[in-house]
Amino acid sequence: MNNFEQYTPTKVIFGKAAEEKAGEAVKKAGGSNVLLVYGGGSAKKSGLLDRVGKSLEAAGIKYTEFGGAKPNPTLAHAEEGVALAKEKCVDLILAVGGGSAIDTAKAIAHGTANPDNDLWDLWTKKVPLTKSLPVGAVLTIAAAGSEMSDSAVLTNESTGAKAGINTEFNRCRFAIMNPELTFTLPLYQQAAGITDIMMHTMERYFIPDIKCDLTDEIAEGLLRTVIKNGRIVMKDQNDYDAQAEIMWCSSISHNNLTECGRGKDFSVHKFGHALSAVFDYTHGASLAAVWGAWAEYLYKDAPERFAKFARNVWNIKDDDDLGAAKKGIDATVEYFKSLGMPVSLKEIGPDVDWTDEVIRTLAMKATMQDTVKLSRIRPIGAAEAAQIYKLALR
Ligand code: NZQ
Ligand code: ZN
Repeated sequence: MNNFEQYTPTKVIFGKAAEEKAGEAVKKAGGSNVLLVYGGGSAKKSGLLDRVGKSLEAAGIKYTEFGGAKPNPTLAHAEEGVALAKEKCVDLILAVGGGSAIDTAKAIAHGTANPDNDLWDLWTKKVPLTKSLPVGAVLTIAAAGSEMSDSAVLTNESTGAKAGINTEFNRCRFAIMNPELTFTLPLYQQAAGITDIMMHTMERYFIPDIKCDLTDEIAEGLLRTVIKNGRIVMKDQNDYDAQAEIMWCSSISHNNLTECGRGKDFSVHKFGHALSAVFDYTHGASLAAVWGAWAEYLYKDAPERFAKFARNVWNIKDDDDLGAAKKGIDATVEYFKSLGMPVSLKEIGPDVDWTDEVIRTLAMKATMQDTVKLSRIRPIGAAEAAQIYKLALR
């Protein structure tokens, strides 16, 4: 087990009607004047935004609404939010939504607390981020795990880059999680969320040669839980207990608990982010489209790790590591298919002409112009990244 530091400071307020505690939570976090950040309108339509607003008013907290965070949220939209937050002198940013609203809220917090710096300079660490405003979240989709993660992701439309920043300033002060809020999710988003939750755990699991029994048990248990309850909600989205399990899995999958002693890789995310930057694909779907190819390309370099995954997550009975490993990969891809996720580039982009030039552009983006090596199984540069994308064509 490698040395590690684990600190997950987000207060979790979980369960039915939890959103009624928004005002109280903001107050405890020191907020009195809030920017309420939301997405394309689902929170308004469902009445959630009004309920959160009422809770804020009851606690004597002023607020200004800022909607329009779209999936794969943009830098330009976050900058608009920074301008509004400055104008209104807000002291806390409250997101109501999923990863897109929460990441926009985190970006606005960083930009507002550092008015003399360009937000993208802070994002890309050209200028160090040394302070931010507090952020809270009312979660409406179990997926990105942003409610407890130290990460946030934006797309800079002018450069075509989708990039994340990891910093302790990205930790939400509190996360309000009412599983009932997810009953209204479009089924495709539900499925993409399940995929993303699995991927956050798998991106930490497929690192060979480091012994971490407890971390493995947590990861394998989380994966079994999300797989089982994923099957239930795909048939009945109103199953409270199943949605609750998935929501809790979403937070645990990305709050660093599943990486203690081992760390993380996130190379499949880099492949997915490049796809979303170019084609604006749903995040979870972008991961499902490449994971099978990524795993097939690399499993022979770490057969025992993939075999452990196959046996403990998918209950595969095969004494031969290579045989078990391959069956585990197939089971995972079949599961994504059963959710209705695309499992190849042709499925995610049936109308795209996947030319060598397109593949090369994606591989260069995923590896930041061939400056970053992907995977912790063995280092993958742009040329091999292109081979993985090609394998994902199928
Ligand atoms: O925008 P609205 O109208 O709210 O609709 C959203 C959106 O269209 C809809 N939705 C959400 N909750 C709903 C609902 N519709 C009906 N009922 C509800 N209860 O679902 C769609 C997707 O929402 P979004 O916030 O985009 O989903 P998700 O949580 O998957 O976030 C995706 C973004 O997070 C980033 C992704 O890259 C992507 O940009 N990620 C953020 C991470 C982090 N900060 O730690 C880690 C992840 O790996 C990921 O990269
Ligand atoms: Zn993700």
